[in-house]
Amino acid sequence: MALRTKTTLLVGLFFLLYTWGVKAQVKVEVEGRVEVARGQNVTIPCLYTTDDGIGGLTIEWFYLEPTGKRHRIYLQDPTMRIEDTATPFTGRIKVDVNGSQGNGQVILTIMDARLGDEADFICRIKSLTDGSHEGVTQLRVFERPDIPTIEGVDTAIWYTNIKPVKIGSCEAKNGYPRPNITWYKDNSPLVNIPNEVSVVPLVTMDSSGLYSVRSELSLNVVKEDKDSDFYCEVNYLTVGGNAMMESNKIKILVNYPTDEVNLWVKSPKRDIKEGDTVELQCQGNGYPQPTFTFRQGGEDLKSNSNVLELRDVSRHNSGVYECFTLNAENFNDVVGNTTLLVNYLDPAVVSPDDTHMLFQGEELNASCNALSSLNTHIVWMKNGVKVATGNILLLRDIVYDMAGTYECMVTVPQLVGMETSSALQLIVQGQPEILKPQITSLEETVESTVVLTCRARGYPKPTIIWKSPEVQIDTVSSNETEDEVVSMASVKVTSDMNVTCNAVNQNGNKEVLFSIKASEFLHALLVYVLVIQTDTAIPPKKIKRESSGVIIAVLIICLLLLAVLGSVLYFLYKKGKICGRSGKQDLTKEKTSRDNIVVEMKRDNTEEAVLLAVNGDKKPGEQEFSLPTHPSLIHLYRSSHYVSQGNYEQKDDTKRSQRLCGDEWEGTSKEG
Ligand SMILES: *[C@@H]1O[C@H](CO)[C@@H](O)[C@H](O)[C@H]1NC(C)=O
Ligand SMILES: *[C@@H]1O[C@H](CO)[C@@H](O)[C@H](O)[C@H]1NC(C)=O
Ligand SMILES: *[C@@H]1O[C@H](CO)[C@@H](O)[C@H](O)[C@H]1NC(C)=O
Ligand SMILES: *[C@@H]1O[C@H](CO)[C@@H](O)[C@H](O)[C@H]1NC(C)=O
Ligand SMILES: *[C@@H]1O[C@H](CO)[C@@H](O)[C@H](O)[C@H]1NC(C)=O
Ligand SMILES: *[C@@H]1O[C@H](CO)[C@@H](O)[C@H](O)[C@H]1NC(C)=O
Ligand SMILES: *[C@@H]1O[C@H](CO)[C@@H](O)[C@H](O)[C@H]1NC(C)=O
Repeated sequence: MALRTKTTLLVGLFFLLYTWGVKAQVKVEVEGRVEVARGQNVTIPCLYTTDDGIGGLTIEWFYLEPTGKRHRIYLQDPTMRIEDTATPFTGRIKVDVNGSQGNGQVILTIMDARLGDEADFICRIKSLTDGSHEGVTQLRVFERPDIPTIEGVDTAIWYTNIKPVKIGSCEAKNGYPRPNITWYKDNSPLVNIPNEVSVVPLVTMDSSGLYSVRSELSLNVVKEDKDSDFYCEVNYLTVGGNAMMESNKIKILVNYPTDEVNLWVKSPKRDIKEGDTVELQCQGNGYPQPTFTFRQGGEDLKSNSNVLELRDVSRHNSGVYECFTLNAENFNDVVGNTTLLVNYLDPAVVSPDDTHMLFQGEELNASCNALSSLNTHIVWMKNGVKVATGNILLLRDIVYDMAGTYECMVTVPQLVGMETSSALQLIVQGQPEILKPQITSLEETVESTVVLTCRARGYPKPTIIWKSPEVQIDTVSSNETEDEVVSMASVKVTSDMNVTCNAVNQNGNKEVLFSIKASEFLHALLVYVLVIQTDTAIPPKKIKRESSGVIIAVLIICLLLLAVLGSVLYFLYKKGKICGRSGKQDLTKEKTSRDNIVVEMKRDNTEEAVLLAVNGDKKPGEQEFSLPTHPSLIHLYRSSHYVSQGNYEQKDDTKRSQRLCGDEWEGTSKEG
């Protein structure tokens, strides 16, 4: 349309100049060519110039047959307008005239353009005075073909063929004028090459004049054609010029023999270990895939596909695997191979194994080995704690605490899940050891009961025997834990006495001496204190009347005695004999805050001694008048309980000694 407008403008300009200049005949200007799509309305314009007004003009439209014969289709003169009958355009045309003095426009409209409408149209204008003139316009009608369809052959093609074979066909239907089909392989057009490429078009035309073009492609197929894309392109003319459309792309199946075979481990993708299920895959480079035979060590293996499955593999499955097929072209064997490596880890062997018995002070040199195709990592564990790395476990100067189960754990860092373990039980033999008691010399009131506890260990398990030359040991109860024997003896204090705890086994014996001092003074004092404290029913005057003088004397002596006792305890504390430093500190702190007992003299009114229990702020340093650390005072008339505790005195056993020393007063406040 743009074309037409431009032409019109040019023509208009020309006329303007022309009429300005020379007064001449009637002049007609038309477009050389007008294009229309089938079924559309088309207008063919005709411009004229004349000196006459519109009223004196005769307008005629003709079309030319291919033979050159002219047929009128329209006539208009000052008296009438006629559309000629019995022409191919009858009933489908319309003529519009408008114009003014000098120039004007006649427009022929042909409705519903048909293929047969293609012809030359003549616009003729005759003036009464200026003569006549005419112009010819060629009308072109187009029809766009349907989108092209493509069909490939659905059977595979042997690439060894000598002649081109049919690959597929392409069709473009219902176009006008005749469309062209071009074949493409991977974006390059295919042209006829003898013995290589043959493109055969077949053109048909239907009753309405539309063309259908079908094109068959034959190729001498090569192996690489299996990867090629084939398609066709339709070129056609339409309003405004050339246009094209492409078909879908197709691939073809090409048969070609296998001349190379590959074999590989399909799964697992990691290193292979014993027990895995392994899949070996075989693939040839031909199409279709041939059948394969798997072989290892000269023996055929069963498989009904191109995958060989090996279940629960062992190291014996390691080796070179081959996969065979026959080249269908030259009947040679084609072989692929791969090497399978099945890794293994044998059970761990510990030496010495099982239970191993050693004496204290001896040395253990144990080894742990597990045969493997890969590097192993070995650790020794005891009670879940790593004690050594590497295959040797070396324990020098063995002590009881080293007894137990040592587990050797072997892993393969390269292959998760490959592991083995074995264990060694170490028994340490030796003479008994007694847990060092915290207090071995004690002072108790007469008639009280003391419970002494003795803890011993050793292998074989020691027997604990309580002895005292002075007194019979009343009751003994004992208890055995995994590595200890605990024995408790109840002793009634009658006089000063020595009690020994003796632990015996076949390797020797150990004993510990508790020396008990029986205190009458203490007894008296405490009886008195108890009376004041507990028996409030007795009036204080009564006591005063009876024995106030004696009591004062006794109390003074008691005070002196307590002072002496205090300094003795302080001395013991300084020497660190009672327990390890940390244990002692805990003890004093706790006891001072809870059971700080102060003896105070009240001389003013009553001259009575009053024992006050104070939960005071006394610090451990100012203990001269307090008796926190001596158990005999704290426990008054209760039965006292002495526990053998502390340290088994092993250099490398700090953990254990701390724990034991922390236990200190456990069980001491047991009611008598
Ligand atoms: C052609 O013109 C006729 C009459 O003006 C109109 O009815 C018709 O719709 C037109 N056809 C097209 C395709 O424009
Ligand atoms: C013809 O008439 C149309 C409107 O009816 C007008 O737009 C056009 O310019 C006229 N052409 C001429 C040449 O006068
Ligand atoms: C079709 O091909 C012929 C010959 O190659 C050519 O002359 C013609 O213009 C082509 N037509 C189209 C629509 O491309
Ligand atoms: C395995 O195949 C390779 C080539 O892929 C070849 O060099 C090698 O000799 C073959 N091994 C065996 C054992 O056949
Ligand atoms: C431990 O035993 C192995 C072999 O039994 C020996 O080679 C190694 O020297 C021993 N180690 C010690 C520290 O005795
Ligand atoms: C031995 O001691 C454990 C805990 O220390 C206790 O559960 C057990 O009852 C005791 N056995 C005897 C016989 O006293
Ligand atoms: C207790 O034993 C010690 C020596 O071990 C001895 O001096 C003391 O006299 C003994 N005490 C009694 C009451 O036997």
